[in-house]
Amino acid sequence: QRIDILGIATASGASVRGCGMGPEALRVAGLLEALVDLDLAIADHGDLRRPHPDISTNPASARLPDERKADVLDLAARASDAGLAILEAGNFPVFLGGDHSIAMGTLSAVARHCLPKRKPVHVIWIDAHADYNTPETSPSGNLHGMPLALLCGEKEFDDSFRGEWLGRIDPRNVTIFGARSIDRDERRLVQARGVEVVDMRKIDQIGVVAAIQRVIDKAKAQGAHLHVSFDVDSIDPAIAPGGGTLVPGGLTYREAHLVMEMLHDSGVVGSLDVVELNPFLDHGGKTATVMVDLVASLFGRSVIGEDPGPVEFV
Ligand code: ARG
Ligand code: MN
Ligand code: MN
Ligand code: MN
Repeated sequence: QRIDILGIATASGASVRGCGMGPEALRVAGLLEALVDLDLAIADHGDLRRPHPDISTNPASARLPDERKADVLDLAARASDAGLAILEAGNFPVFLGGDHSIAMGTLSAVARHCLPKRKPVHVIWIDAHADYNTPETSPSGNLHGMPLALLCGEKEFDDSFRGEWLGRIDPRNVTIFGARSIDRDERRLVQARGVEVVDMRKIDQIGVVAAIQRVIDKAKAQGAHLHVSFDVDSIDPAIAPGGGTLVPGGLTYREAHLVMEMLHDSGVVGSLDVVELNPFLDHGGKTATVMVDLVASLFGRSVIGEDPGPVEFV
């Protein structure tokens, strides 16, 4: 199975500029080389680019909200179609953001691909945030805080958000993993819809292994396609400073790797987003490098080159 890389170079869903440079930073940090090193076949489709220049995210611009929204929706439609083509060809899409609004398109592709096959879609949303705001509940108005709400069918989005491109996700098949910042009304929605939230407290309390194993077991039991949406701000800012919406108290370096390693071993992952990397805020490529290594773990990089097997005490 080939890994097909598609960049979506945009910051139009965010208020902080810079994550439009994310795809290129991940390539510069050695993403393709890391996958080649694992003997994987890869194809790089290059980047989808927004129709408006990034000046449109300047908060001083009065035309700002409409133009940014037009960018987000244009890219979502194109990412959905391009992602669907990759999946229909039997390949594994790796989507490089861009801010997290790109998931409106990338997850739509997965949903559209799985629907006719009656294959359930599970989503693990690895993120400091829930990204389950609607235009009504959002305190910021930023669309990168809303993709899950749109995909899960929340009603408060106007008709411009609908189209052939939009897929549908069951909120009960979504696990938000690593959360530590959810807005008040957003939390009400998440709870009402039955979205599973594994917050940092829970990870601290039960441990990351038990926490991720539950998600894997649930996806496996349903024979699901598991989509991994990885927001760099899930990781602790000390390790991953290259993001525009950092929150303290995130996943440690090893916790994040163990998640990716166990997801690899599960064999149920079928698609990946890597989002919110902001090279302009990063420290000399530190966060980009961490992300490349995490993607390598998801694709099977291991120190001893085989499954660790059961622990033996002698
Ligand atoms: N909850 C906040 C909002 O709606 C922050 C969202 C941050 N999202 C992200 N993908 N980094 O504005
Ligand atoms: Mn996010
Ligand atoms: Mn986030
Ligand atoms: Mn911890």
